Amino acid sequence: MSINNIKICPSLLSCDFSRLGEEIQAITEAGADMIHCDIMDGRFVPNITFGPPVLASIKPHCTLPLDVHLMIEEPEKYVEDFVKAGADILTIQVESTVHPHRLLGRIKDLGCKAGIVLNPGTSEESIRYLVPLVDMVLVMSVNPGFGGQSFIRDMLPKISRIRDMIGDRDLQVDGGVDAETAKEIVAAGANVLVAGSYIFNHGSYAEAIGLLKNAHAG
Ligand code: DX5
Ligand code: ZN
Repeated sequence: MSINNIKICPSLLSCDFSRLGEEIQAITEAGADMIHCDIMDGRFVPNITFGPPVLASIKPHCTLPLDVHLMIEEPEKYVEDFVKAGADILTIQVESTVHPHRLLGRIKDLGCKAGIVLNPGTSEESIRYLVPLVDMVLVMSVNPGFGGQSFIRDMLPKISRIRDMIGDRDLQVDGGVDAETAKEIVAAGANVLVAGSYIFNHGSYAEAIGLLKNAHAG
């Protein structure tokens, strides 16, 4: 992957929610490529975040694509609402529905890009027959639910195997991404990095994003 192909998606989960609009503006000016929105329902994951109304309220102020990561049960009930609210790409967890193939087709029919996510304990074989339907595959490198967890290094060979499986589709990695882990993640074949705590806890968002984009070089 060349440096120009590495896209950075700050995860709002670690931002200051009392200043949501300002935070989005700051990461946009700092060089982010997409805004990663973590949607949690307290059932699929042991945490709750926000839903379509919050997404709709930020959409008009956002110039970057909204990358919406659904960590919810029964996602088929809500995909239309998230598309209407302004999602540019909707990524569903393969474990969250018995009919991921049907749901990915529906997301595409709604005019939205579609992505599929695998938890750390889920084999890449679970997505093999979904690949033709998706714009992006997301590999979780922590168990979803919280920011600030440690990168699970066993995911590196899985990232490589999925790169071999998906050709030039986007391959995103989420969880425990920092300037150090990013080097191995990019070397394994990922080209889209989600980072929450690393960017929002850094003194300079631009510096943090720059370090992630350059991770392949070190
Ligand atoms: C975790 C979320 C992540 C989270 C990553 O369930 O999907 O997007 O914000 O946080 P960090 O980058 O702090 O590991
Ligand atoms: Zn996420």
